Amino acid sequence: MSGPRLDGRVALVTGAASGIGAETVRRFVAEGAACVGIDLQEEPGRALAASLGEVVRFVPGDVTVEAEVAAAVDRAVADFGRLDVVFNNAGIIGAVGPLVTTDVEAWDATMAVLLRAVFLGMKHGARIMIPQRSGVILSMASTAGLVGGLGPHAYTAAKHAVIGLTRSAASELGQHGIRVNAIAAGNIATPMTATVIAGDADAVPTAHEFIEATSPLGRGGVPADIAAAAAFLASDDAAYISGHCLVADAGQTSGGGPGTFSGVEAAMLREAGRRGV
Ligand SMILES: NC(=O)c1ccc[n+]([C@@H]2O[C@H](COP(=O)([O-])OP(=O)(O)OC[C@H]3O[C@@H](n4cnc5c(N)ncnc54)[C@H](O)[C@@H]3O)[C@@H](O)[C@H]2O)c1
Repeated sequence: MSGPRLDGRVALVTGAASGIGAETVRRFVAEGAACVGIDLQEEPGRALAASLGEVVRFVPGDVTVEAEVAAAVDRAVADFGRLDVVFNNAGIIGAVGPLVTTDVEAWDATMAVLLRAVFLGMKHGARIMIPQRSGVILSMASTAGLVGGLGPHAYTAAKHAVIGLTRSAASELGQHGIRVNAIAAGNIATPMTATVIAGDADAVPTAHEFIEATSPLGRGGVPADIAAAAAFLASDDAAYISGHCLVADAGQTSGGGPGTFSGVEAAMLREAGRRGV
């Protein structure tokens, strides 16, 4: 890890009680930031804050409810004096199954968590950041936001929309000195993926083994991989990056792994290239 790139910065992280959100709070604090975390899960959220001391506050809340997102933003400003980073990370798998059996209420509930909440985080983050004339808004997309077939329909649609909203928001907010970016995470071992892979939110090691077996890099993704991407985008190291979706997937969606030419001798490939084949 490089130096404390977030010294003096204040961040709001949604979905902070578990997985990627919890690890990002730890990473942001390690890089010098103060954090407010919001999550439905009160007990682990409070435990995380207690383990990190006075620089972290936990606010129990539902990110689909505008007043609760607004209150979390206001809490950051009240307790720490400013707001430099909003990380819209809270998520669920949501509605699953074939299109023809997908329930409308489940669809709407999924969209509320994965898209409306992202809009709310942007809206209320920007409310503070515009007069401040600086800030960074990050949102969790997914490789399911880049191509079809990697997640359920509502999840896929919402994550595509998060990338679209990121670009749209970046085009408006850049004039105020606010950068807006997304992260398309690949498979990461967390309670969410443990639930999908093993049917048990506690089976994170099983999820990790499964992910490792299919990773082009030969190792499973962990929350720290995404927290590192978030810390980079939140920091001045990314000062000229806005409207971008950073893909952190071990190369999975770029054709990583052995690919088409597996088994073909490297020397033959070089020869074919030399001849312009
Ligand atoms: N794990 C992966 O492989 C993966 C890959 C791509 C994208 N993502 C995305 O990363 C984000 C974090 O996922 P994770 O894997 O850490 O999952 P996780 O289940 O470990 O954490 C998600 C957190 O969001 C909270 N949350 C859900 N709905 C909420 C609501 N309405 N209000 C407040 N909090 C709410 C949950 O309580 C939970 O603590 C999600 O947006 C997910 O879609 C994850």
